[in-house]
Amino acid sequence: MRSILIGLDIGTSSCKALAVDENARLLASASEEYPCYAPKPGWSEQDPADWWRGARAALSRLMRKIEPSRVKAIGLSGQMHGMVALDAQMQVLRPAILWNDQRTAKQCEEITRAAGGPEGLLRLTNNAMLTGFTGGKIAWFRENEPELYAKCVKIINPKDYMNYLLTGELATEVSDASGTGFYDVAHDCWSSELLGILGISENLFAPVKNSTESIGKISKEASELTSLPENLPVVAGGGDAVLSAVGMGLEEAWQLAVTLGTSGVVARHVPAFFKNEGAKLQFSRACLPGLFHVMGVTLSAAGSYQWLESILGDPRLASRSERYKALDEAAAASPPGANGALFLPYLSGERCPVNDADATGCFLGLRGQTSKGDLARAVLEGVAFSLRQAYDLMADATGPAKRLILAGGGAASPLWRQVMADAFALPVVTLEAGDEGGSFGAAILAGLGAGVWDAPAQALGQLRVKSETLPMEEHLALYSERYEVYKRVYPAVRGL
Ligand code: XUL
Repeated sequence: MRSILIGLDIGTSSCKALAVDENARLLASASEEYPCYAPKPGWSEQDPADWWRGARAALSRLMRKIEPSRVKAIGLSGQMHGMVALDAQMQVLRPAILWNDQRTAKQCEEITRAAGGPEGLLRLTNNAMLTGFTGGKIAWFRENEPELYAKCVKIINPKDYMNYLLTGELATEVSDASGTGFYDVAHDCWSSELLGILGISENLFAPVKNSTESIGKISKEASELTSLPENLPVVAGGGDAVLSAVGMGLEEAWQLAVTLGTSGVVARHVPAFFKNEGAKLQFSRACLPGLFHVMGVTLSAAGSYQWLESILGDPRLASRSERYKALDEAAAASPPGANGALFLPYLSGERCPVNDADATGCFLGLRGQTSKGDLARAVLEGVAFSLRQAYDLMADATGPAKRLILAGGGAASPLWRQVMADAFALPVVTLEAGDEGGSFGAAILAGLGAGVWDAPAQALGQLRVKSETLPMEEHLALYSERYEVYKRVYPAVRGL
């Protein structure tokens, strides 16, 4: 009997359940949306009960599309960094504070100072304390809601809370632990030194597993609520941004994964620890045992192109897809280098390598002849250059990659794929299931945990390539010249 593996992703706007077979082929999926709340400017919260309602609905619908007796295991993926606070009865104490909540700038600064400054923190965790991370949220909770904090016995991340409701077991795993900012990534344990300095007990956290390790089995009650078979093995799973790399087929360091979503993510698996110089990358344990996952985020990637379309898209065209097609055609008519136009995509500030919330976007190199197509191509090229900078940090530390796997909305554009291939001087491939994200990676982890595949390569080797774009030799010198110019712009315009 052929096996089925289930992946469930607890995302920010919805949750998605999917089923794959032992050939890593997608069989069925179902999703369910839920709300996000912003009680104050810059705050972002969700009710964990909504995730559970969504997960139950999506799983029940998925189970109606597949044969339950073939299902061998389930794995979860989830939005990272979210703080779920539980009391002694494992009841949720307050709404979850999410990864995109910005209330903790003061606490992150205080934690960094207490750790001995950025270098001290780097020594302890190999990361900066970003406002998105769980660590600052815990400090905020303790400072601003002391009565509730006094009742709090456990803090876990979103998918770990779902795992608890499915199995009755409290656990976390290495990728989400790394995303708290309190994890000693080098030594694969909580940083007792940092927690000691901050007066936070290690008992506040759940035991840390590897992502493919089992955390328990589907309970009778959860089985009734989700239609998942009772006693189905549940693997620990992973944080979505880290786990997506598994779904994109990333195993060894010769590959690079880039997601061109609203924000852009450059990720790589590396076999050996290296110092995250300047704390510019996000550095975590990977969801595949024995590897590290490094990631650089550019905040406005496809978001920059969306912005351009919103102001330059042809209003006579009724549908958005027609307007994008027309803009793509205009961009394709502009030659590589966009006739001198250059774009910096810092429309929402920037994270990597320029960690500057106040950075702004800019166009330069404009002339009387500059066309709409030049501006559109300049945006595609500028985003590619900003992602290339994150890749360069990884390549400096661990050597060049040989192939780039591209996913996200932007990967659908043949022109952008060519620009990426030329700007990175790497072959670019897209995969058939490349856009399934964390839920697909979670199903792969489930199969590894359940022994359906003996090794990651057995599963990942089956992922099917949808397109391949080779760098064009005649563009490489021009792109490398434009990239050098690009790198000089931000230091010159910073603070203007
Ligand atoms: C990763 C991050 C986001 C969330 C979104 O560091 O902040 O990707 O995980 O789901």
